[in-house]
This record gives sequence, structure tokens and C-alpha cells, in this order.
Amino acid sequence: MQHLIIIAHPNPQSFNHAILERIKDTLLRLGAKVEVRDLYKIGFNPCFGEADMNKQHGGHAPHDVVVEQKFIKSADKITFIAPIWWGYVPAILKGYFDRVLTHGFAYTNVNGGVKGLLGSKKFGIINTFSMANVYPEENSNVFVDKTLEKNIFEYCGSPLCFHKMFFNVNDCSQDKRVEMLNDAEKLIEKFVLDPNYCPYFG
Ligand SMILES: Cc1cc2nc3c(=O)[nH]c(=O)nc-3n(C[C@H](O)[C@H](O)[C@H](O)COP(=O)(O)O)c2cc1C
Repeated sequence: MQHLIIIAHPNPQSFNHAILERIKDTLLRLGAKVEVRDLYKIGFNPCFGEADMNKQHGGHAPHDVVVEQKFIKSADKITFIAPIWWGYVPAILKGYFDRVLTHGFAYTNVNGGVKGLLGSKKFGIINTFSMANVYPEENSNVFVDKTLEKNIFEYCGSPLCFHKMFFNVNDCSQDKRVEMLNDAEKLIEKFVLDPNYCPYFG
């Protein structure tokens, strides 16, 4: 089972990186194969430019995009980790979605409609917030939840398996942070071990 983790946070000392380390350790302990793409570390260019536009009109995808697509192709399960900045994922991850999830790779057009091409993959997202949960009854922030779920993953044929949101991460106690890391570990354990684990829709 090949796991791919894509992280979008510039600070290796951050809570997001603590989540990454916990998840990576959990996957390795369970014998999974893991690849990590740290978008800041690799200097991923998030700007959808002329070369990307040319690809949409029948040209070749830029080399850096092809590299990231190969990582997705090789993976069975893919987890994104990112903070929420101004109500959405950081620009570097938005740019990753813009550039990597291309027509012909992530989706195509059939009979006037759209067909997702990533249906064989399982995706999950972990986001951190400084603010409290404004929709506690749904355990979510509805805006970011729906835009990621509908506009990206459903469109690509693979509805999200989980969207874990950690709220109040800046001001919480050390104990609460430990609890959150333990929650992330349990979530990933189930994601690895249970082929039907899809709590997002459970
Ligand atoms: C540019 C910027 C914008 C932010 N916007 C939001 C926001 O819209 N909602 C929110 O809850 N937190 C927001 N935050 C706070 C971050 O989400 C928070 O600091 C982060 O999740 C904490 O995790 P970290 O310690 O790994 O950075 C923002 C932070 C930055 C730097």
C-alpha cells in the first residue's frame, strides 16, 4: 500500500509538521510505503502560467507537474496537511490543485459532462485553524469543507474519505495538542488498515 502525504506549511517546527511526523511514523510502523511531498521544501511553483494553459490546449504538461502527477499515480492513498489561511488552504496548495489536477489526468469531458479520473485513489485532508469551530454540530467549517469536497475531489471522481479539522490550535494547551496528534494517529491507522474506512460519509 503506497501512501503519499502532501504538506503545505513553510515551518518545519509548526504544528502542521508535528502532524506530518506523527502520521509518517504511524504509516512506517504499520509497514506502509510513504512518500512525502513538502511543497515549500521542494519549491513548488504554484502559479498556473502560460505553459499550463498550453497544456490545456493540447500541449505537454510542464515537467514539474508531470513529476507530481507521477507521485499521485503511484499512490493508493493520499493525505494533504495544511493550515487554513484566510478561509482556505495556503496559495501553494491551491496552486498545486490548479496545476497538477489537469484535464486528461484528473478529469475529462464525456458527452458534455465531466468524468473524474482519480476514482481509484483515496484522499483525505487534515486542516488546522486558529479559530474555534463555528459549525460544531457538523464538526466542520462548512465553506472550506464544501469547496474542497465538491469543487476538487468529487470532480476528480474520488470523494474525500476524511476531512479532519483541528480548531483552536494556536491557543490550546499542550495536553490538547497531544490529544490532537493522537487523534491524527488513530485516523491514519484506520485509513491504512480498514479498506472501507471513510468517516467523512459515515
Ligand atoms: C496568512 C494567514 C491567514 C490565516 N487565516 C486564518 C483563517 O482564515 N482562519 C483561521 O482559523 N486561522 C487562520 N490563520 C491561523 C492559522 O490557521 C494557524 O496559525 C495555523 O493553523 C496553526 O498551525 P501551525 O502552528 O502549524 O501554523 C491564518 C494564519 C495566517 C498566517
